[in-house]
Amino acid sequence: MLSIDMTGKRAFVAGVADDGGFGWAIAKSLAEAGAGVSVGTWPPAHNIFTTLLRRGKLDASRPLANGSMLEFEGIFPLDAAYDALTDAPEAVRTDRRYAEKGDFSIEGVAKALLEKHGPESFDVLVHSLANGSEVKKPLLETSRGGYLGAVGTSAYSLISMLRAFLPLMRRGGSVLSLTYLASERVIPGYGGGMSSAKAALEADTRTLAYEAGRSHGLRVNTISAGPWASRAASAIGFIDEMVRYAEANTPIPEALDAKEVGHAAAFLASPLASGITGVTLYVDKGFHAMGKAVAWPEAPTPEHPKTTG
Ligand SMILES: NC(=O)c1ccc[n+]([C@@H]2O[C@H](COP(=O)([O-])OP(=O)(O)OC[C@H]3O[C@@H](n4cnc5c(N)ncnc54)[C@H](O)[C@@H]3O)[C@@H](O)[C@H]2O)c1
Repeated sequence: MLSIDMTGKRAFVAGVADDGGFGWAIAKSLAEAGAGVSVGTWPPAHNIFTTLLRRGKLDASRPLANGSMLEFEGIFPLDAAYDALTDAPEAVRTDRRYAEKGDFSIEGVAKALLEKHGPESFDVLVHSLANGSEVKKPLLETSRGGYLGAVGTSAYSLISMLRAFLPLMRRGGSVLSLTYLASERVIPGYGGGMSSAKAALEADTRTLAYEAGRSHGLRVNTISAGPWASRAASAIGFIDEMVRYAEANTPIPEALDAKEVGHAAAFLASPLASGITGVTLYVDKGFHAMGKAVAWPEAPTPEHPKTTG
């Protein structure tokens, strides 16, 4: 029987701070396929996440198909806005949420993983994070700082992370990120340069696939996911409307489950996808293929106000 077998493989998933996002779903799928998984967690969320895990508050989301529980080999504080610790401003380094986290930069985490597991010890690198401080502002009102910050944290971080991880990655390994349709179609409300960041991420996926493929035998792909009410998406403010709109208008008219993104990620990361690189794979129930709405979700309610348009 053809199955996804990641036994003996090791993965690092950057962007896991609770059990509600794509990063968690991907980590879970990779573990379910047999891989050892470490995660990178944004320092301000690190204490909360490790406490929730320790206290068993996430246990309902941890069971794997084989009856065991999802365990992480490590949970590393990671702020993808900084390549090296010296790039972090003094105010960040001394902030109480960062001060005792060691070297939380991209290079710092790669170094810690190298010390813990040794060179060429990883097969999968997943970038499942994004941050744009002005995401609620229309592009036309976005400041230069907000725009560059969104692109730096949400897109450049993939380049930086891949470079820092090169000594860690085994040949044949897979690099994966998460993108969104706003890179190529207008999604009113997804502002602050986040649409630009996703466009950069997709273009960089192709170039990195070529460069890292030739130099290190790695594959680089990105998943364009449909709307999902994660913590990050909920913070933007209109995710419920997006979920209902997608559900009503997709070729497969049902809401996307994060598990479906996890499964696609496990496939892309596995040897079964050895011929696939440089790709933007839509995991969105086919929403990207539509050129005309066929239905509108129900009228806005106080709980779900229509905030875009
Ligand atoms: N939820 C959606 O509708 C949707 C759709 C398409 C693509 N995506 C993408 O999926 C990815 C994961 O997002 P999600 O929706 O699962 O939400 P999420 O909240 O689970 O994940 C985002 C993570 O990014 C982390 N993060 C923020 N700033 C960071 C920084 N500077 N350094 C390190 N980590 C940082 C957050 O702590 C969080 O853990 C993102 O790239 C997002 O753009 C989401």
